[in-house]
Amino acid sequence: MDSLRSVSLGSRLPRLERQMLWQHVLQVPRAWLIAHDTDALAPAAVASFRHLEDQRLAGTPMAYLLGYREFMGHDFQVSPAVLIPRPETELLVETGLDYLKGRAAPRVLDLGTGSGAIAISLALACPGATVVATDLSYDALSVAQGNASRLGARVEFSHGSWYHALSDHKGFDLIVSNPPYISAGDSHLTQGDVRFEPITALTDGSDGLSALRAIIQGASQWLVPQGALFMEHGWDQAQAVRQLLHQACFEQVASLPDLAGIDRVTGGIYN
Ligand SMILES: C[S@@+](CC[C@H](N)C(=O)[O-])C[C@H]1O[C@@H](n2cnc3c(N)ncnc32)[C@H](O)[C@@H]1O
Repeated sequence: MDSLRSVSLGSRLPRLERQMLWQHVLQVPRAWLIAHDTDALAPAAVASFRHLEDQRLAGTPMAYLLGYREFMGHDFQVSPAVLIPRPETELLVETGLDYLKGRAAPRVLDLGTGSGAIAISLALACPGATVVATDLSYDALSVAQGNASRLGARVEFSHGSWYHALSDHKGFDLIVSNPPYISAGDSHLTQGDVRFEPITALTDGSDGLSALRAIIQGASQWLVPQGALFMEHGWDQAQAVRQLLHQACFEQVASLPDLAGIDRVTGGIYN
């Protein structure tokens, strides 16, 4: 009869990933695995583990196998319809929250919401805010809607390309976005986890700046005076994004570094 120990002996997965998959299959805490490593396992559990192990060895991201990823202290359900939320995107949320401090009932817009990670985190941290989140993908919006109701966040979802998703013209105090910013020919698109993520979440199919350009150029019609726009972008795009913001008449244009000291969020205030 198979046990955790006997199955693990033959596994090529790193120990931590193995443990996470077992926890997922058996729905037990990590401590249970250690205390029960020689117990006999049900054949169905071993088969489920081996199926997940095969997918992981073929490159499927852990978040898709487990069905969730933690972001800003919340567990977000994810599927291959959405980008897996990245730790670096927490900088964009924190920047937005800093801007919202002291505003009682701000209106916030998240463009390209994916799993809803940004919009939902903002809504949970700022319960007085009205948060609108959009995406071009119906499948992504369905994942985001599920996350909002599971996490108890009040977010209004809308389908469409960037500002075309919006029907009324009420001004937003804050617009945030983590749009697709990898250029079409970038070799990273064929490496690692990103091979399994939706291509339209990763690349604009062009120079990497076209989505950022559309968001910046359209923002003035949707922001209140003194409203802010903050965007995540690639490690080498900060200068180009600042230039686009200046061209669109934004003030106080600035970039913020991530923990590695690389400028990954840029924004400004529209007067
Ligand atoms: C980089 S992902 C970000 C997802 C999520 N906001 C996050 O940070 O984890 C970009 C998102 O933009 C969406 N998107 C791509 N093109 C779009 C467009 N023209 N209009 C609206 N959303 C778009 C994609 O479907 C995807 O969900």
